[in-house]
Amino acid sequence: MVKWLNNYQLLYCLCELRGLSGERKMKKYKLPTREKCFEIIKKYHVPPHIVEHNLTTAKLAVFLAQRLEERGVEVDVELVDRACLLHDMARFCDFSESDLNNLKPFITEKDKTKWQQLKAEYEGLCHEEVAYEILKNQYPELALAIKKHRYTAILDEKEKPATWEEKLVYYADKRVMHDKIVPLKERLEEAHKRNVHLHGTQAQSDINTSKVDPLIFGLEEEIFSKINITPDLPDFA
Ligand SMILES: [Fe+2]
Repeated sequence: MVKWLNNYQLLYCLCELRGLSGERKMKKYKLPTREKCFEIIKKYHVPPHIVEHNLTTAKLAVFLAQRLEERGVEVDVELVDRACLLHDMARFCDFSESDLNNLKPFITEKDKTKWQQLKAEYEGLCHEEVAYEILKNQYPELALAIKKHRYTAILDEKEKPATWEEKLVYYADKRVMHDKIVPLKERLEEAHKRNVHLHGTQAQSDINTSKVDPLIFGLEEEIFSKINITPDLPDFA
């Protein structure tokens, strides 16, 4: 795990060189540096495949945030970046026994012990809420953006992503399947198959998805109509 995470440290350094860690333009609130995000990832034993997913989500969300900025939209690119880097930091809360078995080659007993402790400490909370609880005192804006990426949050007037930063974190996550950017429809269909248990029953899952998915397509339309590119992302590398 330690050896593997060191490779990520290198990736973080590369991202720093690309200019995502310079002086914050807007200093309305506190955000962690990318290095600090890496420390948090290490502290909570975030497994490799989740770090990959978080990094790809950040890359896409930052791309969209920069396109919005170019069009005169006020958006805090650094908040978007840091929230995406940490958005699934507590994903272990959702791991089933079979997930843990599949992850066996990549995780240690120490990782599992840490997750068990955290699951007991935050019993009954979903991964978005656990990350929120962990981060809210030090980084309230960041914590809130992460909390609002919960799939069904978009149904709730109070909980739904409302700012551009929150919308981009929410949307980018719904475009990244594992560590690959895919069309929204493909990602949602895959997640529906995988996450039935999070809705309780298949029937409840179908009710939720029939209400939520159209709103996510609406969000896609809102973002892409502003930046005047298509969701297949022709200029994204
Ligand atoms: Fe995610």
